[in-house]
Amino acid sequence: MSPPLITRVVLARHIAGQPALDDFRLETLPMPELDDGQLLIAHHWVSADPGTRSRLSGQASYAGALPLGAVIDGFAVGTVVASRNPRWAEGTQVVTGGGWASHSISSGRGFIAPVTRTDVALHHWISALGVPGMTAWFGLQRVGAFKAGDRVLVTSAAGPVGSVAGQLARAWGADRVAGVASGEDKARWLREDAGFDAIVDWQAQDFEQQIAAAMPDGIDILFDNVGNAMIDRLLPLMRPGGRIVVSGQVADYNTPVAERHGIANTDRFITHRLKMEGLVVFDDMRGFGAAQDAIADMIVAGTLKTRDVTGEGVESLPGLFCDLFRSGAAFGRRLARIA
Ligand SMILES: NC(=O)c1ccc[n+]([C@@H]2O[C@H](COP(=O)([O-])OP(=O)(O)OC[C@H]3O[C@@H](n4cnc5c(N)ncnc54)[C@H](OP(=O)(O)O)[C@@H]3O)[C@@H](O)[C@H]2O)c1
Repeated sequence: MSPPLITRVVLARHIAGQPALDDFRLETLPMPELDDGQLLIAHHWVSADPGTRSRLSGQASYAGALPLGAVIDGFAVGTVVASRNPRWAEGTQVVTGGGWASHSISSGRGFIAPVTRTDVALHHWISALGVPGMTAWFGLQRVGAFKAGDRVLVTSAAGPVGSVAGQLARAWGADRVAGVASGEDKARWLREDAGFDAIVDWQAQDFEQQIAAAMPDGIDILFDNVGNAMIDRLLPLMRPGGRIVVSGQVADYNTPVAERHGIANTDRFITHRLKMEGLVVFDDMRGFGAAQDAIADMIVAGTLKTRDVTGEGVESLPGLFCDLFRSGAAFGRRLARIA
C-alpha cells in the first residue's frame, strides 16, 4: 500500500491585481509524524474566503503577508483522525483554520473548536455557523448597534456574510432590509427566498435613483462588504445617527492602497452624526457559541436560507477563489468537498 499523502495548495507567486489560477500550486507530501500535543485533522470541507486576498500580495496587511510556498488560508471542518493531545480525542469533529489542504496538524490551541450540533449539515460550520455568519451577527449587533425598526442596507448581499446579515436584520425586526447585488438570479433569490424588500444592481446606470427608491426613508445601518467607492455612493442616504459597519472591502483588495477610491461625502458624518467602524470577527469569539446555536435553530426551522458553490477536492479552491472577484459569478459560499 502506498503511504498516505497530504494534498495542499500553496502560494506560487505574490499576486498583483486580480488573482489567477497560476498564482497557486498544488503539492502532495507524505503525512508527517505527530509530535506530543499535536493532532491530525482530515478535512471534509474547506472554504475560499475573499479576505485571504489581502495576505497574498507580499505587503503586510493586518494579518501579515503570506510567504511564497505557504499553504493558503481557509477554514476547514473535519475529523480528528490521530491525536497525541489528551484534550482532542480521535473521532472528534472540529472547525479550524486548517487552510487549503486535505489535512492539517493542530496544536489544539488557537482557532479550533468542536462541532457542537449534528442536526445541521457539516459544511454550515464554515459558512452560516462559521466566520461569515459570525461576521454578520456581530457586525450587525455589536458594531452596528442594531435595534428593531432600523432600516438596513447590505452590500454584496448575496454573499455568505451579506445574505446572513440581511436575514438576521429581518428576523430581529428591521423596518426595511435592502441589498446591493449583481444580476437577476441573485436579486430573485434574495427577494423570494431570503426575504429582502428590494435589491439594486450596483452596475445599473441609474444606481443612485434605484437605491434611493429602495430605501425611501434612508439608511440607519449600512453593512458594507465592498469598500470605499460603494460607501461613498451610499453616504448621501444615511439617516441621522446612522452606523456604517465596515465588514469587508472585496472591491478594494486587488488594488494597491494608493490607487483606491477615496471617500468624498464625509460632510455627512458631521451633519448626520454618523459612525463608521470596522470589525475583526475573532474579537467576538467568546460569543460565537450562543450565536451559532441561534443560527443553527434558524437553519433547522427553515427561516435562514443559505447558498453554496461547491468544488471537488483542494484543487478546486483556486478557481472558487478567483471567481469571488468576478462580479456576477455563481453565488454563495465557495466550498471544496474533500474526499
Ligand atoms: N471583518 C471580518 O472579520 C470579516 C470576516 C469574514 C469576511 N469578511 C468580509 O466580508 C465580505 C463578504 O465576504 P463573503 O465571504 O460573504 O464574500 P462575498 O460577499 O460573496 O464576495 C464576493 C462577491 O463580492 C462582490 N464583488 C466582487 N467584486 C466586486 C466589486 N468590484 N464591486 C462590488 N461587488 C463586488 C460580488 O457580488 P456581486 O456579483 O453581487 O457584485 C461577488 O460575488 C468580504 O469583503 C470579506 O473579506 C470580513
